[in-house]
Amino acid sequence: MVPTYNEKENLDELVRRVQQACSSAGLSAEIVIVDDNSPDGTGARAEEIAKTENLKVVHRSGKLGLSSAVLEGFKAASGSILVVMDADLSHPPEMIPEMVSKIESGEADVVVGSRYVKDGSVENWPFTRRIISKGATLLARWLTKVKDPMSGFFALKRSVIEGVALDPVGYKIGLEILVKGKYTKAVEVPIHFADRKAGKSKLGGGEYLRYIDHVILLYEYRKPWLSKYIKFSAVGLVGAIINSAILWTASEIFFVYYLLAAVLAFCVAATSNYYMNRRWTYRSKRSLPWQYAQFLAVSVCGLVLNLIILYGIVDVAMPALDIGMDKASLYLIAANLVAIFIVSIFNFFANSFWTFRDETRRR
Ligand code: GDD
Ligand code: MN
Repeated sequence: MVPTYNEKENLDELVRRVQQACSSAGLSAEIVIVDDNSPDGTGARAEEIAKTENLKVVHRSGKLGLSSAVLEGFKAASGSILVVMDADLSHPPEMIPEMVSKIESGEADVVVGSRYVKDGSVENWPFTRRIISKGATLLARWLTKVKDPMSGFFALKRSVIEGVALDPVGYKIGLEILVKGKYTKAVEVPIHFADRKAGKSKLGGGEYLRYIDHVILLYEYRKPWLSKYIKFSAVGLVGAIINSAILWTASEIFFVYYLLAAVLAFCVAATSNYYMNRRWTYRSKRSLPWQYAQFLAVSVCGLVLNLIILYGIVDVAMPALDIGMDKASLYLIAANLVAIFIVSIFNFFANSFWTFRDETRRR
């Protein structure tokens, strides 16, 4: 599978080297080019080559993206072992037989051509590109054990992706497959990532943002509870700041009785927490009022818990430790934060299994 966009100058050498590498290993390879109507005439050149070589060309109407091109190629390909590579000769076609044989022998279901294992390397990359690549790889660290999940050069059994809903966000279809595919064995073979032969890279600035988006989606896919709890906590942290600010302002500046100030602070924070959790943590599309009522009910239960804990600390524990309320506003804030922390755990479970139970089950 070779996605192409303006790769006319690289096609002939690519096809020649792929065919040569495969035939000398006794493999018969079908090459599938998925071209996005490249302005430089890559598609026409591919058709030309297809007259004499075992080459299939899929033409798409315009630049629809690398990942979806690869998926389109999977559909068009007839083989049961699929190999994906770039057209610009950054990936050595000579590695294909070794990658395929690891799948044929049953040693692996997925084989990644890797820059970041022993003997793997990149050519002449400037410092910034190395850093960006390493940083991007680090972000995916807990998604897969593969050391170079960003690689655009990989082979897989067709069964790995059969019946799997793949989301072609951005450039990293390999990472998507590593996270969502059905396989038990993924191995890496070292490659030397050469500079592209001709033409320019298509990786623009927008790709970096799309990648971060993609990684977040994959973490949510892989660790739905953990990522939801982290989001819920982040919302809670914002809520705690709002809560503390209101509590402090009301009790210190307007001399509102501290328990009453805590109630006011809690109501405002609960409402803003609701909106943030609805939109972000649970991505809910359900009707607002009933859900809001449920969230508030949970919050009120939480508030009761909050007040009991706060009362326990401020009116029982603090006098026992001989801390006077007059110069103890910081202790009050701290006591309130402790209460909020305990309550947030209660709230997370109550909201996940009641308020947003449909959203929780949907995952
Ligand atoms: N059909 C199609 N549509 N092909 C595309 C598109 C598109 O929108 N965008 C890029 N391609 C093709 C290119 O023609 C090339 O064959 C391949 O996808 C990779 O594009 P490059 O522009 O050469 O990408 P790169 O060299 O910056 O990135 C490569 O290395 C990265 C690792 O550093 C790719 O292999 C990435 O997948 C890889 O992560
Ligand atoms: Mn390239």
